[in-house]
Amino acid sequence: MERLKGRRALVTGAASGIGRASALRLASEGAAVFCADIAAQGAAQTAKEIEAAGGVAACGSVDVSDFASCQSIVAAAVEALDGLDTLCNIAGILRPGHTTEIDMGVWDQTVAINLSGTFYMCRAALPTLLEGGGAIVNMASAAALQGVPYNAAYCASKAGVVGLTQSLAAEYARRGVRVNCICPGGVQTPMTAKGLPVENMDPALMARIVPLMPRVAQPEEIAALVAYLASDESGYMTGTAVKIDGGQVA
Ligand SMILES: NC(=O)c1ccc[n+]([C@@H]2O[C@H](COP(=O)([O-])OP(=O)(O)OC[C@H]3O[C@@H](n4cnc5c(N)ncnc54)[C@H](O)[C@@H]3O)[C@@H](O)[C@H]2O)c1
Repeated sequence: MERLKGRRALVTGAASGIGRASALRLASEGAAVFCADIAAQGAAQTAKEIEAAGGVAACGSVDVSDFASCQSIVAAAVEALDGLDTLCNIAGILRPGHTTEIDMGVWDQTVAINLSGTFYMCRAALPTLLEGGGAIVNMASAAALQGVPYNAAYCASKAGVVGLTQSLAAEYARRGVRVNCICPGGVQTPMTAKGLPVENMDPALMARIVPLMPRVAQPEEIAALVAYLASDESGYMTGTAVKIDGGQVA
């Protein structure tokens, strides 16, 4: 498939899980991909895999919670790829805990990376995306649409990503930039490898986040949706929050 031939994509969170799978998928469909992550080695590894498969890749380190860092990585991507038309904001963290025990630092960091980080990357990349049109794909979560216990900061940050996506879509639809977000349920990645490590959880409260399908998703299944939303096949979609959750959210 060469749906993304000629596209130049910047992917955050590209060292691991969904971001890594998305970078590989975009490249396999013909895009040149800049792999960015706070874990520089992991991003480099993903870029190396893309090149080994015959694709075009570059990489760099970014802390999405720092606007100056976002500006630098966008500049680096524009230089390495000779422009930019696709931005996939996939970096994120999950720090669950009982709300009454949660440290304010956990709230601040979760919002800084998941929500401010997504905004900072959009803010840094939009001037370039507006030059020739493009697509932004943000990673929200089913947790944005459904209260998940022990995850107040995460749910709030991801609901913010949905609102941010809708606002940017409204502002830039007529100028050729589409903005969509994805709401996955459980996905098998390092983020979820240990389950939700919260002591004294009430399992009854977790019953509402069980999917209809008796399994979690693989990162490649989410990456396929990232590639679709980045491509012209989704050309009439903007401002959407697409659930991909095995039927978790009613
Ligand atoms: N795994 C799931 O079940 C699931 C479900 C819904 C949504 N999501 C979302 O999907 C995205 C990817 O999650 P994943 O499951 O692949 O997790 P992951 O932990 O495997 O990957 C997250 C990546 O983000 C990077 N990152 C963290 N902080 C960063 C920062 N400040 N700057 C730049 N990069 C940073 C990490 O280094 C890591 O490579 C996240 O936004 C997550 O919230 C995951």
